[in-house]
Amino acid sequence: MNAHAPSPPAPPMGLLVELTHRCPLGCPYCSNPLALERPGAELDGETWKRVFSEAAALGALHVHLSGGEPTARRDIAELTRHASRCGLYTNLITSGIGVSEKLFAQLVEDGLDHAQLSFQGADKETNDRLGHYAGSWERKRAFAAMVTKAGLPLTINAVIHRANLSQVAAFVDLAVELGARRLEVAHTQYYGWALANRAALMPPKKEVDESIAVVEEARTRLKGELVIDMVIPDYYARYPKPCAGGWGRIAINVSPSGKVLPCHAAETIPGLEFWNVRDHPLSDIWRDNPAFKAFRGTEWMLEPCRSCERREIDWGGCRCQALALTGDARNADPACHKSPHHARIAALAAAEAQEEAGAAAIRWRSLKTAVALAPRARSTPDVAAQA
Ligand code: SF4
Ligand code: FES
Repeated sequence: MNAHAPSPPAPPMGLLVELTHRCPLGCPYCSNPLALERPGAELDGETWKRVFSEAAALGALHVHLSGGEPTARRDIAELTRHASRCGLYTNLITSGIGVSEKLFAQLVEDGLDHAQLSFQGADKETNDRLGHYAGSWERKRAFAAMVTKAGLPLTINAVIHRANLSQVAAFVDLAVELGARRLEVAHTQYYGWALANRAALMPPKKEVDESIAVVEEARTRLKGELVIDMVIPDYYARYPKPCAGGWGRIAINVSPSGKVLPCHAAETIPGLEFWNVRDHPLSDIWRDNPAFKAFRGTEWMLEPCRSCERREIDWGGCRCQALALTGDARNADPACHKSPHHARIAALAAAEAQEEAGAAAIRWRSLKTAVALAPRARSTPDVAAQA
């Protein structure tokens, strides 16, 4: 089979907007970039509304209102109303902190369709410690009650790593107790903050396998009651995930300051210029920004992806991870067993997972640590360089 050139892009399915990087929590696996954007750089409400109108006109179906903590924006209800009026399905991705009953009622009135609530642990102590916020457990539970009382579908989002891996069964119980319709058990993906904290977060493979078995049993037992999605750790995978659904294929991310990205970590790839919604209509960016075209389709692929039968299934995996771990964003994601780097990252994961828990200091996510970490992270040696 030959690789072929990309055809003109179909419309994106969805838009993930990081409305702000402000957040009360300090999760050490945060998917935001290490170089967090400052509040003063955020787009104003009118520009966000234009972006939503342009996304709907482009053919997008849903918008994920994310952050940071999206409800830290004072105009969150107004933005939700506008997105809803544009015909977009609105999903609020939140920590649940700081959402009063009054604000939530307003969001519902303004057309909010779905809420996705994060928990850092399945009990109070673990949750508050790993979210780095005392008292968040009660607030999250109160938020979940507001969602179900309003009759909105609730998804519980649990990011899993070494410090909470033993709680997968408890997360399932928690989701059922809170009346969630869906639970996302997502093993940490190692970019940004999680990559900086990898040695503290990497779980042992045996325990990962046990957690997969727990999820499979729960899926069977709770069929029709709770949908459980699971993301397994890349470093222990056989094939990579189709990151972002394939670069520039179905998803758009917009940063707080309006940079339009194919995925949340795209700015880690040097040499790409990401256009801004302040300067360009979204449709032009989607179609013409060279950064979106850089890894769209399959023409850019090297071997083994180029001739692989799965190249239009996983799209070669994750470009950002390929760069971070092999030094070249065009390489196969080393999560793939066909990658020449695969054995090395599996060995690295096994070595890090064996380190004594607590041996590696956790860097809690915050605007302050972002300043200290961002320049260092850019020069952190990757696995290829360490080999
Ligand atoms: Fe996917 Fe490339 Fe691996 Fe094939 S070789 S499975 S396309 S990452
Ligand atoms: Fe960028 Fe996967 S996070 S392609």
